[in-house]
This record gives sequence, C-alpha cells and structure tokens, in this order.
Amino acid sequence: MTSNTAISEQAREILITNDRGGYTVPTAGLYPYQWNWDSAVAALGFAQFDVDRAWVEIETLFKGQWADGMVPHILFHKSDPGYFPGPDVWGCEGPIPSSGIIQPPIAATMARFVWEQDKGVGRERLAALYPKMVKWHNWIMRWRLHRGAVCTTHPWETGRDNAPDWDNTMARMDASDVGEYTRRDTAHVNSDDRPTKYDYDRYIKLVQMGRRLNWDQAAMLAESPFRVADPTMTFTTLRAARDLQVIGEALGEDTSGIAASIELLVTGAETLWNEELGGYDSRDVLSGEWAGCLSNASYLCWFAGVENAKMLARLRDVMTRVPYPVPSNDPNAESFDARRYWRGPTWAVVNLLIGIGLEDMGHKTEAKALADKTAGLIKEHGFAEYFDPMNGKAAGGGTFTWTAAVWLAWAGRD
Ligand code: GLC
Repeated sequence: MTSNTAISEQAREILITNDRGGYTVPTAGLYPYQWNWDSAVAALGFAQFDVDRAWVEIETLFKGQWADGMVPHILFHKSDPGYFPGPDVWGCEGPIPSSGIIQPPIAATMARFVWEQDKGVGRERLAALYPKMVKWHNWIMRWRLHRGAVCTTHPWETGRDNAPDWDNTMARMDASDVGEYTRRDTAHVNSDDRPTKYDYDRYIKLVQMGRRLNWDQAAMLAESPFRVADPTMTFTTLRAARDLQVIGEALGEDTSGIAASIELLVTGAETLWNEELGGYDSRDVLSGEWAGCLSNASYLCWFAGVENAKMLARLRDVMTRVPYPVPSNDPNAESFDARRYWRGPTWAVVNLLIGIGLEDMGHKTEAKALADKTAGLIKEHGFAEYFDPMNGKAAGGGTFTWTAAVWLAWAGRD
C-alpha cells in the first residue's frame, strides 16, 4: 500500500498542477475556472506547505468581489469553451467576469486557518482581507435571511447542486421555455454521475431570470420561485461570523455588528430543525414546506458551533450503516442514489467541515473516526471529486483540488 508520505506528495502535486497562476481550478477540463468554496479549501491545502500561495488564493477570490459586497460563485478569469454556462450566459458586470450567485461562505473560516498557520506573516494579509470579508458577510445578512436562517436562491449556491432538498421547489418551476443549450459537463464525465436534464433546465432557467433582472437582488427576491432556507448556507454563514469575530478582535476592530449577526443566525439555525425528520432540514420559504432531507449539510451544526444530541446520535448511526464517510443523502431515503452527485455520494470536503466541527465541539472520537474513514477512502480510491458511499468507488472528476486539500490539512495528517 502507498505510504502516507507518498500520498501527501501526490496531493501537493495536484494543487500545484491545478494552479492557474493565483487561483486553482477544481479539476482540469470539467471545472476550468475559480470556484468560490473550492478555492477557500484550496487555500487551506496550500497553507500546509506554502502559506504565501494560500493567501494569494483568497486574495484572488476577493478581487472578484462586486461593489455591493457579493463574492461570486465562479470567476471566469480566462474564457474556456469546455464549460457551460460561461460568462456570456450569466451576463454579469463585476470586476472579473463571473456568475451572479454565491457559494457557501467558508472563505473567512479558511482565512482564519491560514492565518493561524503563521500569524506573523499572516496579520497584514488578514487585515487587508477583513473589511472585504465583513462586507460579503453583511451582503448575505441583508439579502439572504429568512427568520434568521440563510436562504439559497439557486441550487448551485449551496454547492449541493442536485440534492433532493430542492426537489419540491424545482417541481413547481416551469422550465419549458428555457430554449436550446449544450451541456459540457457530460462530455467530461459519465452522465449517470451528473444531474439530469430536468434539473439542468431549471438551473438555466434561474440563470436566465437573474440575467433578465440584471442580478438585482430586490427584483429577484420579488420574482424568483426559488428561495430555500438551508443548512449549508446557514451553518457556514454562522461559522464564518464566529471566525470573523475572532479575526476582528485580534485586529482590534469593533465586532459588535458581527456579534449581532451571530445571535440572529443562532436563532435562525433552529428554524431548520424538522422535528418529524429528527434533523436539520431545508425549508422552502415560499411554500413553507420541509424538504424532509437528512443530508451531509444537516451534520454541519457543530461546524457552526451548534450542539445537538439528536444529531450526534444520528451521526453515530449513519457511521455504522455506511462503510465510507458521511454521505450526501441518507441511504434509507427513497431519493438515495449512490452515484448521482449530491443525492447519495460521499464528498470529502463536507466531511472535512463536519470533522472540524466535531473536533471543535469536543467530539474527539467521532472526529477521529471520520478523519480515519476519509483517509482510508482517499488511500483506496484516490483524489476523486466524490465517491460511492457504499463501495467507495470514485465518481465524477479525478485529481480534484479539494480532495487533495482535505488529505493534506485533515484526513492524511499525522
Ligand atoms: C459542482 C459542485 C460544487 C463545486 C463545483 C466545483 O458544481 O456541486 O459544490 O463547487 O462543482 O467543484
């Protein structure tokens, strides 16, 4: 079996190979641009062997920040015909061509980790980023809140594209007039591992609507059929707020606004508790309906500093039922599909976040078990985009940046 040292070498190689000069692509071909939360995780990976390069990754991401504070989910630094929908479809006018939506705001959390690797070198870089990170946080608090929980306005914003969480909401959308378009993702990887055409029509329909409304948040709020309060956005935003508070205090800033955010988000997180499901769930803000989904995002409560004994019991249970790390959908759910993207597969990145949370909240045994399972998965099946949770088989793209970063920063650590 390959040694951990050799695997770490491969992981560093992946980050270096996926580096496009100041930013890292998730994987060549399938994802040829800079993705927001992938990039934050890439920074964490780089921080294990090149702290300067880690800062550059986050700094490049914030170069794409819009004047109002929004930080886009994709920055199209250099046009690439191998990806759809590209900059011409989004029609956005930020400082760098981009998409018009966000992704889970984990950049502040990762910036804190990078700073903690080397506080001397990091202070100045962190101080320059801090106001930008606060501005993005405030943007989220202004435009995405419902009863204190954070909403997503597009399945892509959560990073869990085709999760069953959105099924009810998507079913109410009419995408019959979306028109002709050519997908590029299924030219790179097996279409059974990807979202369906039904899903894609709705993703594109929402992009067309955003563009027509000039990405005006107030207009989109009034018109969009898609607005779901979800555990990914809520727990990552709450976590980011806690990290911004720590960073702000270290920099001698007034953090009272952030403290108020934390208080509000803590109450918001509890509005995602679905008693019938016995877990944190997504709720459609427009219909009031629960999604009824126990996803990997349900287990991000600890990452957000939210303790929950029932979730801990659930975690222990899923970890005995599933041989590989926490899957994106519970195998007992009717919608479970072991290979299709966010409807069942295991994603190393979400397990990293769950693991960080468990560790922080003192659940050391579970944190270690999860890290060990993730290490075993990567050792056996490589740096895939995601994995079948029942047999560990690799799925989606290969030589994936965030899977390599997860190994370096967490799973493969000594
Ligand atoms: C897919 C994933 C998303 C990720 C992106 C780039 O869209 O669902 O979470 O950020 O690919 O890796």
